[in-house]
Amino acid sequence: MGAKGTDVSRNVGIDAMAFHGPHCYLEMADLANVRGVDPNKYIHGLGQRQMAVATPCEDTVTMATVAAYRALKRFDIDPGEIGTLIVGTETGVDHSKPVAVYVHDMLGLAPNCRTFETKHACYGAMAGLTSAMDWISAGRARGRKALIVASDIARYGLKTAGEPTQGAGAVAMIVGEKPRLLQLDPDTFGDYTRQVMDFWRPLYSKYAFADGHYSIDCYLDAFTGAWGDACENAGTWDRLRLDQLAACFYHVPFVKMARKAHHRHCETEWGDTVTGDDEKMVQLKASYDRQVAPWLELNSVIGNIYTGSMFLSLMDYLRKAEPAGGERLSLFSYGSGCGAAFGTGVVTDSATRYAANIDPAEHLARRKRLDIERYEQLITASETADHNEAPYPDPADWDLGPGLYFVGTRNHIREYTGSASDTL
Ligand code: HMG
Repeated sequence: MGAKGTDVSRNVGIDAMAFHGPHCYLEMADLANVRGVDPNKYIHGLGQRQMAVATPCEDTVTMATVAAYRALKRFDIDPGEIGTLIVGTETGVDHSKPVAVYVHDMLGLAPNCRTFETKHACYGAMAGLTSAMDWISAGRARGRKALIVASDIARYGLKTAGEPTQGAGAVAMIVGEKPRLLQLDPDTFGDYTRQVMDFWRPLYSKYAFADGHYSIDCYLDAFTGAWGDACENAGTWDRLRLDQLAACFYHVPFVKMARKAHHRHCETEWGDTVTGDDEKMVQLKASYDRQVAPWLELNSVIGNIYTGSMFLSLMDYLRKAEPAGGERLSLFSYGSGCGAAFGTGVVTDSATRYAANIDPAEHLARRKRLDIERYEQLITASETADHNEAPYPDPADWDLGPGLYFVGTRNHIREYTGSASDTL
């Protein structure tokens, strides 16, 4: 296939993608006004325009199932072809039972489909993706595909520093041989792990705790570590150099973070610190404007979806860029705690044909805007909605259309109504 000047010997990668998120969102300017903050801080300082907010009837299971259903349907893949299902999430619905097994049931996947959940903060789906790549490359798939779903609800709580960096949503990816979208290049992947307390969510808390500014430093150090390992593994710079990359995707907890990450990316490659307004800074800004900024639109209106955030940028690229095929893209995933991976893939010749199948614009256009009062009610209602025998969370209360919804816990068992095929 048409990788530019490279030899990607194993033909494994992303064959299908789809997004599903909550039906409601908040304008960041509305949040800023009520919190007494200059809206420019959220909109320009963090780079966020809107934030997806899950109602008590939308959880990690419902979002994952609908996203996966959409990926199967829009790419005409029979559920019987799926031999591995991995859900990456840090907002699971049970300490023991994986979200993946609910998704397996709701999609009607085969009993011999290996199914499990991965957790490592925002790195969970990347861990799933690379495991799927290894499963297929090792010959264990026997022609079947892997379904990887990143699904999360990012919540820090009302009036916290993290509040403007919340969000929710799921990205489903189907991984197989002869992929239609992105061929992964396993030799260019590198890893990084370090125990740090930058962001965590104890078992007793619905909300994440974060040492916000420290978490940014941890993220950037992890970039340097994973990128360095990738360079060593690749054995050559040819495939990793910035001038070989059509686009660079990073984990995006908020849009400005991608800018900071790209800054570190340039500095690490150039072996130089870039400050002030010298020629290097001009070069760095031009590189950011071309390789990163155009693909952050979905992140800016959805917010942090934790483990799926980097893949939202990839979707934005695939729906808008009209790549001819052969473009090399870099992927950097960071999960607090922390774990990270850097790798690259090559866009396939057929990717542009599927731009409309990937595009979540219709779903986003149907979202309902929350006012602040409703947003705060929603957050408060979500705190107890899944408690055993709590009042029934009713989709009608939140003006939700037909779809798959969580409707409460009875006798300690979570209950759902509707199906993925009902969802508009
Ligand atoms: P903060 O203290 O509220 O904000 O925390 P700030 O004072 O740092 O300001 C943010 C930016 O806005 C700054 O830009 C300001 O200058 C600018 P920067 O200097 O960084 O370029 N600013 C303005 N710009 C224009 N007009 C104005 C204005 N005022 C200020 N008027 C923080 C921000 C992100 C730390 C906070 O929201 C937070 O704690 N968020 C949660 C943690 C987080 O997202 N960490 C990111 C790295 S860790 C990660 O990505 C993993 C994660 O996704 C979890 C996982 O792995 O599962 C979080």
